[in-house]
Amino acid sequence: MTEIRTPRLLLRRWHDDDLAPMADINADPRVMRWIDDGSVHGPDHTAEAIERWEEEWEEEGFGLFAVELLASGELAGFTGLSVPGFLPEVLPAVAISWRLGTQYWGQGYASEAAHATLEFALQDRGLDRVISINRVGDDASENVIEKLGMVPERETAHPVYAYPLRVRTIDLTEFQA
Ligand SMILES: CC(C)(COP(=O)(O)OP(=O)(O)OC[C@H]1O[C@@H](n2cnc3c(N)ncnc32)[C@H](O)[C@@H]1OP(=O)(O)O)[C@@H](O)C(=O)NCCC(=O)NCCS
Repeated sequence: MTEIRTPRLLLRRWHDDDLAPMADINADPRVMRWIDDGSVHGPDHTAEAIERWEEEWEEEGFGLFAVELLASGELAGFTGLSVPGFLPEVLPAVAISWRLGTQYWGQGYASEAAHATLEFALQDRGLDRVISINRVGDDASENVIEKLGMVPERETAHPVYAYPLRVRTIDLTEFQA
């Protein structure tokens, strides 16, 4: 079972107990503001999503990690890798993404988890390139992306919602773990 420890976090596969805290995160409009059409997700949607994320782990050998705080065991949200099938023009590609509950923002957890995820992509999965895709205006994500050293690749539009998207990339062979 894939697990990564960072100084403050455990990145791991999903447990049944994660459903309630992840559903709370997905029910918060501040969290969902820059995702898809900005609407919140109900518990059934979250349960299906966790099932899908676990399937991706089985199929691809990578996926979205549940991010747990080592100190308390709380689920803070997710960070991980997925194939961005919603944006065919960038394929083939693997994208990094993140989503934390608001009480876990502003403490460097997203960057700590993202850094460990890029190390996993390179060292464990042998990937040489990872991209990020964010909605223009999502400054919190851009901040994480820039700190990771990801460089602009293209600007495009969301195929369904038409809003502007920014794609960045990192050559992991040059990534300083
Ligand atoms: C995007 C998101 C994960 C960013 O989280 P975040 O907490 O702002 O990101 P970071 O982990 O980089 O932490 C940010 C700040 O914590 C501060 N911080 C506090 N303690 C810290 C520590 N010990 N180590 C590092 N940073 C620390 C830093 O000052 C940092 O800000 P700075 O880079 O301006 O200095 C979060 O806003 C989120 O979940 N948003 C909703 C979901 C979403 O939009 N996802 C993207 C859709 S693609």
